[in-house]
Amino acid sequence: MKTDPKDLQIAELQRKNKQLESALESLQSLATLGELSGVTAHEFNNILTLTINYARMGLRRTDNETREKAFNKILEASNRAAKIVAVSLGLARNRKPGREPLDITALVEDVLLLLEKEMTKFRIRIERKFEPTPKVLANGNQIQQVLINLLVNARQASPNGGRIVVKIRPYAEDPQNNVEIVVRDFGTGIPKETLPHIFDMFYTTKSGPDATGKGGSGLGLSLCKKIVEEHKGKIRVESADNVGTSISIRLPVAR
Ligand SMILES: Nc1ncnc2c1ncn2[C@@H]1O[C@H](COP(=O)(O)OP(=O)(O)OP(=O)(O)O)[C@@H](O)[C@H]1O
Ligand SMILES: [Mg+2]
Repeated sequence: MKTDPKDLQIAELQRKNKQLESALESLQSLATLGELSGVTAHEFNNILTLTINYARMGLRRTDNETREKAFNKILEASNRAAKIVAVSLGLARNRKPGREPLDITALVEDVLLLLEKEMTKFRIRIERKFEPTPKVLANGNQIQQVLINLLVNARQASPNGGRIVVKIRPYAEDPQNNVEIVVRDFGTGIPKETLPHIFDMFYTTKSGPDATGKGGSGLGLSLCKKIVEEHKGKIRVESADNVGTSISIRLPVAR
């Protein structure tokens, strides 16, 4: 029996599509890393300015109270710098594809630390609702990327001075085997007619990158979905016009 040339063509196109998808995925992971280096450099500059100013203050004013304050501020800033370096180095190194048992709360905290500057810039308050959960089986680098995408989307949909709630909890329907992470915003919401498309590749309602250079390629959510499903997890969205959006990802508990 002869194979229909059309079928061959379709198979070839599907193969090419797969290749392109995987190339895009590694590009996005690189873009995230690039973005993080930018954030790190910027944050470092702020920390150094602070440290230099407090060191000057301590040298200029010799009373014990001022000096103690200066030392404490310098210590605080240096600790913050050390933590940021540790997180960035961890991200840069942890680019292997494997999955391992992962403390999801620590991972979420790392991501929130990296995005702290950006959230402050738009006066977005992050509310943490973290319940104790077992470790999940995941690739830290990929899940970090998913969380960054969700948090940036939530930030972009929120008004200045808005609020984003991040929840971590055992998944209600199957608490023994799954952990749920929810990113909830109170922004624009997603209109009903748009909802079926948001996970499509290249689907975007943004006219282009915003002031921070983010958004507009329409890749964020499609990659989130792909990554979460590769983890044998689920991603789910609930949204209503002008009420806001809640995106939940479910990940399997590590055994
Ligand atoms: N939290 C949210 N609130 C409102 N709309 C959202 C939210 N998250 C996603 N969307 C909608 O879904 C679309 C697709 O999101 P997605 O993250 O895939 O792409 P993007 O943010 O437009 O671009 P990028 O590839 O840079 O992430 C967005 O353009 C927006 O219309
Ligand atoms: Mg996005």
